[in-house]
Amino acid sequence: MGGKGFTTRQVHERGRTGASSPRATPIYLTAGFSFDEYDDAAAHFGAGEGYAYTRIGNPTIDAVEGALASLEGGSQALLLASGQAATSVALLSLAAAGDHIVSSRHVYEGTRGLLVDNLSRWGISSDFVDEIDDVAAWEAAIRPNTRALFAESISNATNRILDIAAVAAVAHRHGIPLIVDNTFATPYLLRPIEHGADVVVHSASKFLAGQGAVIGGAIVDSGRFDAVASGALFPHLVAPGRGGGPSLAERTGGDARIAYARESIAPRLGPTPSPLNAFLIGQGIETLSLRVERQSANALAVARWLDAHPAIASVDYAGLPTHRDHARAVELLPDGYGSVFTFTVAGTADDARGVVEALDVFTHMTHLGDVRSLVLHPASTSHVLLSAQERAALGVHPGTLRVSIGIEDVDDLIDDLARALAGVAVAEPVTATEAQVPA
Ligand SMILES: Cc1ncc(COP(=O)(O)O)c(C=O)c1O
Repeated sequence: MGGKGFTTRQVHERGRTGASSPRATPIYLTAGFSFDEYDDAAAHFGAGEGYAYTRIGNPTIDAVEGALASLEGGSQALLLASGQAATSVALLSLAAAGDHIVSSRHVYEGTRGLLVDNLSRWGISSDFVDEIDDVAAWEAAIRPNTRALFAESISNATNRILDIAAVAAVAHRHGIPLIVDNTFATPYLLRPIEHGADVVVHSASKFLAGQGAVIGGAIVDSGRFDAVASGALFPHLVAPGRGGGPSLAERTGGDARIAYARESIAPRLGPTPSPLNAFLIGQGIETLSLRVERQSANALAVARWLDAHPAIASVDYAGLPTHRDHARAVELLPDGYGSVFTFTVAGTADDARGVVEALDVFTHMTHLGDVRSLVLHPASTSHVLLSAQERAALGVHPGTLRVSIGIEDVDDLIDDLARALAGVAVAEPVTATEAQVPA
């Protein structure tokens, strides 16, 4: 290129990139890939060989997908631009206009909004199950046009723990998959596919990335799609391919669901992650177990301390014996109960506001799964669109705060909370003598 013009060299000249086995995942921050041989283009468009365009495939993204599939015990993973994209693509890979989804009531507000406000406009209706451990309620909500059950493994707000095996069994009796949002638990604490779930979705923005630097999402599939049992419910997975070629199920077997998500839904709707974000999520995954182990230990210590504090009305943490799902948590979460939970200040919304304003080590923001501890007042933020009654049913009261516990030294977190809660006026504790009721 020596004799070429400045602008030509500006875009074409590069030094040698000789390293053959870089230790870190290389970041292929590129829109696409040149075809080395003329016929490579046709091979890509025909048989899907090689890389051509990052919306369709990228080696950095593939590397992270491989890690996620392995950690969740799935067959394949699909990395997407956000957790919302993961839930949307997972649902749209299964359901079309006229179909129906049954979801747990205890889900992230963005998921509820997607089902209630968006998918409904596209002809996909939803029903919600309030009591997620009521197997009969799941069963009763299923209709002939239901195409998936959806729930969170550890739920937002009240830390409900899903009986994955029981709800998966209901789904399978009807030939449909159970999709589990495993964001709060992470595959370090719980792998839903091992318990019978079919599809796992994640907000990778949270614990997987871990440092609050990126937005990302992922779908992991069990690879257990059964064309014989469920083909009639999912005709798009078993219909002949273009020009009478093999169907997705014939081509990819048990991976037909995620193949459809990868080949048809994700590239057409277009929520492709940046390869740079994929790299950062991959870096985060390398320390996932260490962070979540520490965060869970810190969270348990903080929850126990709050539970004994006179200014606290209740603590919704599945790691506490008082939580209604504690027994299931002990069974499903032997390595820790996670880092996110709510507690309710014994006072008004103003008292809760005072606590948030007095906290110093905790960061006030709407996020979770960060190495730093975070705090949010759900009633005035994430759950503000609900009625007071709906909020109460989800365990969100005027004095409720949600925390996501980080990796800090736990004494600093407890000191911070002690200082902040000192400002809450607590009714004078009743002495033992005063409490004695005359006979
Ligand atoms: C449980 C859960 N699922 C999904 C999402 C959506 O993820 P994202 O913000 O990456 O789109 C969130 C976000 O807070 C969440 O908490």
